[in-house]
Amino acid sequence: MGATIAIATGNRHKVEEINNVLRGCGYQVEPVDAPKIEIQSDSLVEIALFAASTAYSLLHRPVIVEDSGLFIESLNGFPGPYSAYVYKTIGINGVLRLLGSRSDRKAYFKSVIALAYRDGIVVFEAEAPGEIAREPRGTQGFGFDPIFVPEGSEKTFAEMSLEEKNTFSHRGKAAKKLCTWLKEHDIK
Ligand code: IMP
Repeated sequence: MGATIAIATGNRHKVEEINNVLRGCGYQVEPVDAPKIEIQSDSLVEIALFAASTAYSLLHRPVIVEDSGLFIESLNGFPGPYSAYVYKTIGINGVLRLLGSRSDRKAYFKSVIALAYRDGIVVFEAEAPGEIAREPRGTQGFGFDPIFVPEGSEKTFAEMSLEEKNTFSHRGKAAKKLCTWLKEHDIK
């Protein structure tokens, strides 16, 4: 088992996806009870920075916050930073209804990982381009996984194993950037 970094999240899928990547650089994340204090902002980076800095000031140990969202191009980026709320309220079927029979179904997921540690906060960002499917498919993963088909695949994220999703996903790519950085820095 490698060195452990705290992560302020209650989402076990995020933890598993990030750990699957971090294992490769000798780290793992461990969910902690620190609240992820979320400001309202149109910027995932601002949200993640604020949450990471407040979590660090409570925990006094290296801590990660991951903030993500689904951006649908023909809806001008909606739901973006409000994805968790939109998922809870109108859900997958509500998003499919908003798109109707539109042929432009381009969308992307974005992930921002902020790591707060002794020397400050570093941010890793990545996007996964793709399309919104016409109907939900698959049972794996979480959130909007059943309706997102990443570029380069025919499957939705919910039809993929965690490992396969990580090769395409915003979170997998951001975690790889974090992994590379961790190999070159001492955060203790
Ligand atoms: P937050 O990062 O916890 O604020 O939530 C982001 C929201 O975006 C989640 O509740 C999901 O609805 C959606 N989301 C983010 N990443 C993914 C993903 O990898 N798959 C499916 N939905 C996601």
